Amino acid sequence: MEKQYYNSYSVWDLPTRLFHWINVLCVIAMICLGTIILWGSALGLNSDGKLLIKTIHVYVGYVFAINLIIRLMWAFMGNRFARWNSFLPFGRNYLKKLKGYLTAEKEGKTQFYLGHNPLGKLAVSAILLSLVIMATTGLVLAGTDIYFPPFGTIFQQWIAASGVNPADVVSGVKDNVDVAAYAEMRSFRKPFISLHNWFFYVIIGLIFIHIGAVIFTEIKSGANLISAMFTGKKILTGEPEDKEE
Ligand code: HEM
Repeated sequence: MEKQYYNSYSVWDLPTRLFHWINVLCVIAMICLGTIILWGSALGLNSDGKLLIKTIHVYVGYVFAINLIIRLMWAFMGNRFARWNSFLPFGRNYLKKLKGYLTAEKEGKTQFYLGHNPLGKLAVSAILLSLVIMATTGLVLAGTDIYFPPFGTIFQQWIAASGVNPADVVSGVKDNVDVAAYAEMRSFRKPFISLHNWFFYVIIGLIFIHIGAVIFTEIKSGANLISAMFTGKKILTGEPEDKEE
């Protein structure tokens, strides 16, 4: 009988695993809350209810954004598999490796990777970029919609009517704002809400692709991709392509 090859490697460090699961919880919460904001009227939500949901969405959004910022900083400090070059689809021979991976897939051969495989790098980069877009646009909207930090005071100062203390400008009350400045602020907001809306759907699509690809690769290669994101340890049944990178 052929000898079966098994090897266990420490791959995902603790900060990377913590980021991943905090991010999962936040994104699920943000999608649910965002869905309620989108279809609030159809769900019979009055303006106070909508404001409450937006406020909760923003508080969860702070956790989400801080977690994301820490992760992006960790990409400068973490272990080999947490760093920028472990997930950005560039670097030495990237296209050659991608071609090799796709050819192997087509031929039904399995390539093993400690970190992300070349196709996975594309997916992880697309996910991270979409998360950055959601965090940036969300933080601006928190300022334009409910005058919350970090930009809320800038928008309050922009639209306060003359003689009105900017701190008294609150969501839903329009009689202490300058009408022209308010209209300008709302057109400034437009591209941010559009991006926030489009990327809501992009993220849902990427989540399906991500989960589908992980399950497919786990079944095909026999590697424990899912439990590795809990334990940090990957068990591979073949020699990894990226052992020496
Ligand atoms: C993956 C993360 C996120 C998802 C999936 C998400 C999803 C959504 C969705 C679907 C909406 C409704 C858009 C609309 O009304 O047209 C929304 C609105 C909003 N989001 Fe997010 N969001 C995310 C992150 C954030 C973050 C990080 C913040 C800020 C800290 C934020 C702040 C807001 C605000 C203020 C609104 C209200 C905009 C409005 O008045 O309609 N979001 N979000």
